[in-house]
Amino acid sequence: MSQAALSAFPEPAPAPAVETVGLSCWYVPGRPVLRDIDLAVAPGSICMILGPSGSGKSTLLKVIKGLLPLNAGTLSLFGQPVAGRTHARSRRALERSVAWIPQHLGLVRSLTVLDNVLSGTLARVGTLASLVGAFPHTLRDEALATLDSLGIRAKADEKVFSLSGGERQRVAIARALMQHPTLVLADEFVSQLDPLTTREMLDIVQGIARTGVAFLITSHEVELVAEYGDRVVFIRDGRKIHEGAANAFTFASVMTLMGR
Ligand SMILES: Nc1ncnc2c1ncn2[C@@H]1O[C@H](COP(=O)(O)OP(=O)(O)OP(=O)(O)O)[C@@H](O)[C@H]1O
Ligand SMILES: [Mg+2]
Repeated sequence: MSQAALSAFPEPAPAPAVETVGLSCWYVPGRPVLRDIDLAVAPGSICMILGPSGSGKSTLLKVIKGLLPLNAGTLSLFGQPVAGRTHARSRRALERSVAWIPQHLGLVRSLTVLDNVLSGTLARVGTLASLVGAFPHTLRDEALATLDSLGIRAKADEKVFSLSGGERQRVAIARALMQHPTLVLADEFVSQLDPLTTREMLDIVQGIARTGVAFLITSHEVELVAEYGDRVVFIRDGRKIHEGAANAFTFASVMTLMGR
Protein backbone atom coordinates (compact mmCIF):
# COMPACT_ATOMS: atom_id res chain seq x y z
CA MET A 1 0.00 0.00 0.00
CA SER A 2 1.33 3.46 -0.85
CA GLN A 3 2.34 5.97 1.81
CA ALA A 4 -0.55 8.22 0.77
CA ALA A 5 -3.02 5.35 1.14
CA LEU A 6 -1.58 4.43 4.53
CA SER A 7 -1.92 7.97 5.82
CA ALA A 8 -5.64 7.75 5.06
CA PHE A 9 -5.85 5.48 8.12
CA PRO A 10 -5.19 7.67 11.16
CA GLU A 11 -3.34 6.25 14.18
CA PRO A 12 -5.81 4.88 16.73
CA ALA A 13 -6.19 7.20 19.73
CA PRO A 14 -4.24 5.94 22.76
CA ALA A 15 -6.34 4.30 25.48
CA PRO A 16 -7.35 6.64 28.31
CA ALA A 17 -5.12 6.53 31.38
CA VAL A 18 -8.34 6.06 33.38
CA GLU A 19 -11.78 5.18 32.13
CA THR A 20 -14.83 4.55 34.27
CA VAL A 21 -18.28 3.63 33.03
CA GLY A 22 -21.26 3.74 35.35
CA LEU A 23 -18.99 3.66 38.39
CA SER A 24 -20.88 3.57 41.68
CA CYS A 25 -19.58 3.14 45.18
CA TRP A 26 -21.01 3.10 48.68
CA TYR A 27 -19.72 2.70 52.20
CA VAL A 28 -23.17 1.75 53.51
CA PRO A 29 -25.39 -0.41 51.26
CA GLY A 30 -28.26 1.61 49.86
CA ARG A 31 -26.46 4.92 50.39
CA PRO A 32 -24.25 5.46 47.31
CA VAL A 33 -21.47 8.01 47.63
CA LEU A 34 -20.63 7.88 43.90
CA ARG A 35 -23.37 7.24 41.36
CA ASP A 36 -22.99 6.26 37.75
CA ILE A 37 -19.74 8.13 37.03
CA ASP A 38 -18.47 8.06 33.44
CA LEU A 39 -14.98 9.46 33.11
CA ALA A 40 -12.09 9.26 30.66
CA VAL A 41 -8.73 10.93 31.23
CA ALA A 42 -6.34 11.11 28.29
CA PRO A 43 -2.64 10.30 28.71
CA GLY A 44 -0.58 13.42 29.37
CA SER A 45 -3.58 15.53 30.40
CA ILE A 46 -4.50 17.24 33.65
CA CYS A 47 -8.05 16.63 34.82
CA MET A 48 -9.25 18.76 37.74
CA ILE A 49 -12.04 17.34 39.88
CA LEU A 50 -14.14 19.92 41.65
CA GLY A 51 -17.21 19.72 43.84
CA PRO A 52 -18.50 20.72 47.26
CA SER A 53 -17.13 19.14 50.40
CA GLY A 54 -18.51 15.64 50.81
CA SER A 55 -19.46 15.30 47.13
CA GLY A 56 -17.23 12.23 46.64
CA LYS A 57 -13.97 13.53 45.09
CA SER A 58 -11.58 11.70 47.44
CA THR A 59 -13.72 8.57 47.22
CA LEU A 60 -13.41 8.63 43.43
CA LEU A 61 -9.60 8.81 43.59
CA LYS A 62 -9.51 6.02 46.17
CA VAL A 63 -11.61 3.76 43.97
CA ILE A 64 -9.34 4.44 40.99
CA LYS A 65 -6.28 3.70 43.14
CA GLY A 66 -7.89 0.45 44.30
CA LEU A 67 -8.06 1.51 47.94
CA LEU A 68 -11.85 1.13 47.87
CA PRO A 69 -13.87 -1.36 45.81
CA LEU A 70 -16.36 -0.09 43.30
CA ASN A 71 -19.82 -1.57 43.75
CA ALA A 72 -21.11 -1.14 40.20
CA GLY A 73 -19.75 -0.17 36.81
CA THR A 74 -16.33 -0.69 35.27
CA LEU A 75 -12.88 0.79 35.73
CA SER A 76 -10.05 0.51 33.21
CA LEU A 77 -6.47 1.70 33.47
CA PHE A 78 -4.57 2.24 30.20
CA GLY A 79 -7.26 0.31 28.34
CA GLN A 80 -7.28 -2.72 30.65
CA PRO A 81 -10.25 -3.49 32.90
CA VAL A 82 -9.00 -3.69 36.47
CA ALA A 83 -11.97 -3.59 38.82
CA GLY A 84 -13.36 -6.71 40.42
CA ARG A 85 -11.75 -9.84 41.79
CA THR A 86 -11.19 -11.40 38.39
CA HIS A 87 -8.99 -8.48 37.47
CA ALA A 88 -6.84 -8.54 40.60
CA ARG A 89 -3.78 -9.66 38.68
CA SER A 90 -3.99 -7.00 36.00
CA ARG A 91 -4.55 -4.42 38.71
CA ARG A 92 -1.37 -5.48 40.52
CA ALA A 93 0.57 -5.31 37.27
CA LEU A 94 -0.71 -1.80 36.60
CA GLU A 95 -0.40 -0.66 40.19
CA ARG A 96 3.13 0.55 39.68
CA SER A 97 2.02 2.94 36.99
CA VAL A 98 -0.41 4.74 39.31
CA ALA A 99 1.08 7.10 41.88
CA TRP A 100 -1.05 8.28 44.76
CA ILE A 101 -0.49 11.56 46.57
CA PRO A 102 -2.97 11.63 49.47
CA GLN A 103 -4.35 14.84 50.93
CA HIS A 104 -1.79 14.94 53.74
CA LEU A 105 0.97 13.64 51.42
CA GLY A 106 1.64 10.42 53.38
CA LEU A 107 5.32 11.20 53.97
CA VAL A 108 7.17 9.68 56.94
CA ARG A 109 8.07 12.78 58.93
CA SER A 110 10.85 11.12 60.95
CA LEU A 111 12.70 9.89 57.85
CA THR A 112 14.97 11.92 55.59
CA VAL A 113 13.81 13.43 52.34
CA LEU A 114 15.96 10.95 50.41
CA ASP A 115 14.50 7.91 52.21
CA ASN A 116 10.96 9.16 51.61
CA VAL A 117 11.70 9.63 47.93
CA LEU A 118 13.33 6.21 47.69
CA SER A 119 10.20 4.64 49.18
CA GLY A 120 8.57 5.47 45.84
CA THR A 121 10.63 2.67 44.32
CA LEU A 122 9.20 -0.06 46.60
CA ALA A 123 7.43 -1.79 43.75
CA ARG A 124 10.68 -1.79 41.78
CA VAL A 125 13.14 -3.04 44.43
CA GLY A 126 10.91 -4.97 46.86
CA THR A 127 10.08 -4.29 50.49
CA LEU A 128 13.07 -6.19 51.92
CA ALA A 129 15.65 -3.97 50.23
CA SER A 130 13.83 -0.92 51.50
CA LEU A 131 13.61 -2.29 55.06
CA VAL A 132 17.35 -2.77 55.30
CA GLY A 133 18.00 0.48 53.50
CA ALA A 134 19.72 -1.38 50.68
CA PHE A 135 18.60 0.72 47.77
CA PRO A 136 20.90 0.28 44.78
CA HIS A 137 23.23 3.20 44.11
CA THR A 138 21.58 3.79 40.77
CA LEU A 139 18.27 4.45 42.53
CA ARG A 140 19.88 6.78 45.04
CA ASP A 141 21.44 8.71 42.14
CA GLU A 142 18.09 8.82 40.38
CA ALA A 143 16.39 10.06 43.58
CA LEU A 144 18.99 12.80 44.02
CA ALA A 145 18.64 13.82 40.37
CA THR A 146 14.84 13.98 40.80
CA LEU A 147 15.21 16.14 43.91
CA ASP A 148 17.61 18.32 41.95
CA SER A 149 15.11 18.78 39.13
CA LEU A 150 12.55 19.91 41.73
CA GLY A 151 14.98 22.33 43.36
CA ILE A 152 15.38 20.58 46.73
CA ARG A 153 18.53 18.50 46.28
CA ALA A 154 20.09 20.40 49.19
CA LYS A 155 17.41 19.04 51.56
CA ALA A 156 18.06 15.37 50.75
CA ASP A 157 19.47 14.50 54.18
CA GLU A 158 17.02 16.54 56.23
CA LYS A 159 14.12 14.99 58.09
CA VAL A 160 10.75 15.72 56.55
CA PHE A 161 9.35 17.26 59.74
CA SER A 162 11.77 20.18 59.36
CA LEU A 163 10.53 21.13 55.86
CA SER A 164 8.04 23.78 54.80
CA GLY A 165 4.72 22.85 53.20
CA GLY A 166 5.97 23.63 49.68
CA GLU A 167 9.12 21.58 50.22
CA ARG A 168 7.07 18.62 51.44
CA GLN A 169 4.91 18.91 48.36
CA ARG A 170 8.04 18.62 46.20
CA VAL A 171 9.15 15.56 48.16
CA ALA A 172 5.74 13.99 47.53
CA ILE A 173 6.09 14.68 43.79
CA ALA A 174 9.63 13.30 43.79
CA ARG A 175 8.45 10.12 45.54
CA ALA A 176 5.65 9.75 43.01
CA LEU A 177 8.07 10.25 40.09
CA MET A 178 10.40 7.55 41.42
CA GLN A 179 7.55 5.14 40.75
CA HIS A 180 7.80 6.01 37.01
CA PRO A 181 4.03 6.56 36.91
CA THR A 182 1.89 7.18 33.88
CA LEU A 183 -0.99 8.33 36.07
CA VAL A 184 -0.82 10.45 39.23
CA LEU A 185 -3.82 10.79 41.55
CA ALA A 186 -3.40 13.85 43.77
CA ASP A 187 -5.99 14.65 46.44
CA GLU A 188 -6.19 18.37 47.33
CA PHE A 189 -2.61 18.66 46.27
CA VAL A 190 -2.22 22.41 46.73
CA SER A 191 -4.84 23.11 49.37
CA GLN A 192 -2.40 24.17 52.07
CA LEU A 193 -0.01 26.28 50.04
CA ASP A 194 0.32 30.01 49.50
CA PRO A 195 -0.65 31.28 46.02
CA LEU A 196 2.93 31.60 44.76
CA THR A 197 3.99 28.10 45.89
CA THR A 198 0.73 26.71 44.53
CA ARG A 199 1.63 28.04 41.09
CA GLU A 200 5.19 26.73 41.36
CA MET A 201 3.83 23.26 42.16
CA LEU A 202 1.31 23.32 39.34
CA ASP A 203 3.98 24.54 36.89
CA ILE A 204 5.97 21.45 37.88
CA VAL A 205 2.89 19.25 37.42
CA GLN A 206 2.24 20.78 34.00
CA GLY A 207 5.82 20.09 32.94
CA ILE A 208 5.53 16.45 34.03
CA ALA A 209 2.16 16.07 32.29
CA ARG A 210 3.71 17.26 29.03
CA THR A 211 5.99 14.21 29.19
CA GLY A 212 2.90 11.97 28.92
CA VAL A 213 1.88 11.50 32.57
CA ALA A 214 -1.85 11.96 33.26
CA PHE A 215 -2.94 13.78 36.41
CA LEU A 216 -6.23 13.63 38.27
CA ILE A 217 -6.26 16.39 40.85
CA THR A 218 -9.08 17.16 43.28
CA SER A 219 -9.26 20.79 44.22
CA HIS A 220 -11.34 23.60 45.63
CA GLU A 221 -9.26 26.24 43.83
CA VAL A 222 -11.60 27.19 40.98
CA GLU A 223 -9.30 29.95 39.72
CA LEU A 224 -6.54 27.42 38.93
CA VAL A 225 -8.67 25.16 36.76
CA ALA A 226 -8.54 27.24 33.57
CA GLU A 227 -4.87 28.05 34.05
CA TYR A 228 -3.56 24.55 34.67
CA GLY A 229 -6.22 22.01 33.79
CA ASP A 230 -7.02 20.46 30.43
CA ARG A 231 -10.41 19.05 31.52
CA VAL A 232 -12.63 19.75 34.47
CA VAL A 233 -15.13 17.41 36.11
CA PHE A 234 -17.64 18.70 38.64
CA ILE A 235 -19.17 16.29 41.13
CA ARG A 236 -22.20 17.03 43.25
CA ASP A 237 -23.87 14.58 45.62
CA GLY A 238 -21.82 11.75 44.11
CA ARG A 239 -22.89 12.46 40.52
CA LYS A 240 -20.85 13.95 37.72
CA ILE A 241 -22.91 16.98 36.75
CA HIS A 242 -20.40 18.61 34.41
CA GLU A 243 -17.40 17.70 32.30
CA GLY A 244 -15.69 19.96 29.81
CA ALA A 245 -12.65 21.85 28.68
CA ALA A 246 -10.95 23.59 31.58
CA ASN A 247 -10.06 26.79 29.74
CA ALA A 248 -13.59 28.20 29.84
CA PHE A 249 -14.28 27.24 33.45
CA THR A 250 -14.80 30.11 35.87
CA PHE A 251 -16.29 30.83 39.27
CA ALA A 252 -19.48 31.75 37.40
CA SER A 253 -19.54 28.18 36.03
CA VAL A 254 -19.53 26.87 39.60
CA MET A 255 -22.37 29.19 40.60
CA THR A 256 -24.41 27.97 37.64
CA LEU A 257 -23.68 24.33 38.47
CA MET A 258 -24.69 24.95 42.08
CA GLY A 259 -27.92 26.62 40.91
CA ARG A 260 -27.08 30.01 42.40
N1 LIG B 1 -14.94 5.68 55.53
C1 LIG B 1 -16.15 6.21 55.31
N2 LIG B 1 -17.27 5.62 55.80
C2 LIG B 1 -18.49 6.12 55.55
N3 LIG B 1 -18.71 7.24 54.82
C3 LIG B 1 -17.64 7.88 54.32
C4 LIG B 1 -16.31 7.40 54.53
N4 LIG B 1 -15.44 8.24 53.90
C5 LIG B 1 -16.21 9.19 53.32
N5 LIG B 1 -17.52 8.98 53.57
C6 LIG B 1 -18.64 9.79 53.10
O1 LIG B 1 -18.60 9.81 51.68
C7 LIG B 1 -18.98 11.10 51.20
C8 LIG B 1 -17.93 11.59 50.23
O2 LIG B 1 -16.71 11.78 50.95
P1 LIG B 1 -15.39 12.28 50.23
O3 LIG B 1 -14.32 12.26 51.25
O4 LIG B 1 -15.19 11.48 49.00
O5 LIG B 1 -15.79 13.78 49.83
P2 LIG B 1 -14.91 14.92 49.18
O6 LIG B 1 -15.64 15.41 47.98
O7 LIG B 1 -13.52 14.45 49.00
O8 LIG B 1 -14.97 16.07 50.30
P3 LIG B 1 -13.86 17.16 50.71
O9 LIG B 1 -13.91 18.24 49.67
O10 LIG B 1 -14.34 17.66 52.05
O11 LIG B 1 -12.53 16.47 50.81
C9 LIG B 1 -19.19 11.99 52.42
O12 LIG B 1 -20.57 12.06 52.69
C10 LIG B 1 -18.47 11.26 53.51
O13 LIG B 1 -19.09 11.50 54.76
MG1 LIG C 1 -11.70 14.99 49.82
